Amino acid sequence: MPETEPVAFPQDRSCPYHPPTAYEPLRADRPLSRVTLYDGRPAWLVTGHALARDLLADQRLSTDRTHPEFPAPTERFAAVKRRRLALLGVDDPKHRVQRRMMVPSFTLRRAVELRPQIQRIVDGLLDAMIAQGPPAELVSAFALPVPSMVICALLGVPYADHEFFEGRSRRLLRGPRAADVEEARRQLDAYFEDLIDRKQKEAEPGDGVLDELVHRQLREGELDREDVIAFATILLVAGHETTANMISLGTFTLLQHPEQLAELRGDPRLLPSAVEELMRMLSIADGLLRRATEDIEAGGTTIRAGDGVVFSTSVINRDEDVYPAPDTLDWHRPARHHVAFGFGIHQCLGQNLARAELEIALHSLFDRLPALRLAAPADEIPFKPGDTIQGMLELPVTW
Ligand code: HEM
Repeated sequence: MPETEPVAFPQDRSCPYHPPTAYEPLRADRPLSRVTLYDGRPAWLVTGHALARDLLADQRLSTDRTHPEFPAPTERFAAVKRRRLALLGVDDPKHRVQRRMMVPSFTLRRAVELRPQIQRIVDGLLDAMIAQGPPAELVSAFALPVPSMVICALLGVPYADHEFFEGRSRRLLRGPRAADVEEARRQLDAYFEDLIDRKQKEAEPGDGVLDELVHRQLREGELDREDVIAFATILLVAGHETTANMISLGTFTLLQHPEQLAELRGDPRLLPSAVEELMRMLSIADGLLRRATEDIEAGGTTIRAGDGVVFSTSVINRDEDVYPAPDTLDWHRPARHHVAFGFGIHQCLGQNLARAELEIALHSLFDRLPALRLAAPADEIPFKPGDTIQGMLELPVTW
């Protein structure tokens, strides 16, 4: 592997749907590079597609973020990493037990069953947006509320609580200061405690994930209350901002690619492959984190026990050995093997649901608003910094 000066990771993108230009040398150095994290600590950055899939399936890489050696990409992450995190922060064999409890609520069949409900949520939000506009700010009017309302329905949060729940989850994800985030977290914990009490008193369980956990696993002693809250929190955190960013950045990207948008409008059967290609191209979760628990021979070198390993999904998903002309948006390429939902035991639990939400949201948006366009010059629209899940901070649109 050629010796190069370590690049700092993460970096801001210069275009919201392309990897940061500072990662160009890393693309040339596939499949593995050295990078430096915000605290000066070195880490490995995985950039090759085949190696990424091998390593993401390798049990010698841990996701236990409470370990002192676990790599932190930002100060904010370092501050919160000691908190217990269900599923994503748990290694096998415990992870297998947790995942098995959750899988029935996230099958492809369940996602298909939820489609009419997702369609109703999307239609209602578009009705409201159309009644008030044009113009509109698409992130707050559409991209954020879609997944938030879907998660309420999925968890079994009563509709009457939905505004409280949405407000707190938004602060949890976007609070400007650490204290706001902690406060929102406390309020959500208290809310979930109360909701669990209410659900325990119900004679007939509803059909939400929390109903199932309360009436089965909690009652049978497989889980305690803290576990149920940890599950609810990870679903909220993992499923909300991610999907919202895919909707906002997906819309922006489509508006910047009129030819591909026209083709998609002409043939909605392309929608599933378009969602897959957008997932690949946008790679919004651009920095999956692991810690090596043993020495691992990989990419012609040795990753030592204790080393931090980071996966740049945006670079991995543009490996030209797998995706010819990787920077081109092409609905006809087989994009399905991208790692934008991760790979291995932690591969996104909500991916079937996320695909359904993206298909319905993007299709309905462009179907209802055929003249949709940006309401500001593209290069003036703010997008997120590189140290978070990638997406648009705001998306002013008109029609
Ligand atoms: C387009 C939207 C989404 C994207 C891009 C996304 C991305 C990801 C990625 C990359 C991972 C793996 C992380 C790692 O290996 O370190 C992951 C895991 C996970 N995602 Fe998603 N996700 C999305 C939507 C959702 C939704 C809608 C839900 C649920 C409501 C969800 C729940 C989860 C959970 C629970 C995990 C942890 C799984 C485990 O550790 O077994 N995600 N997601």
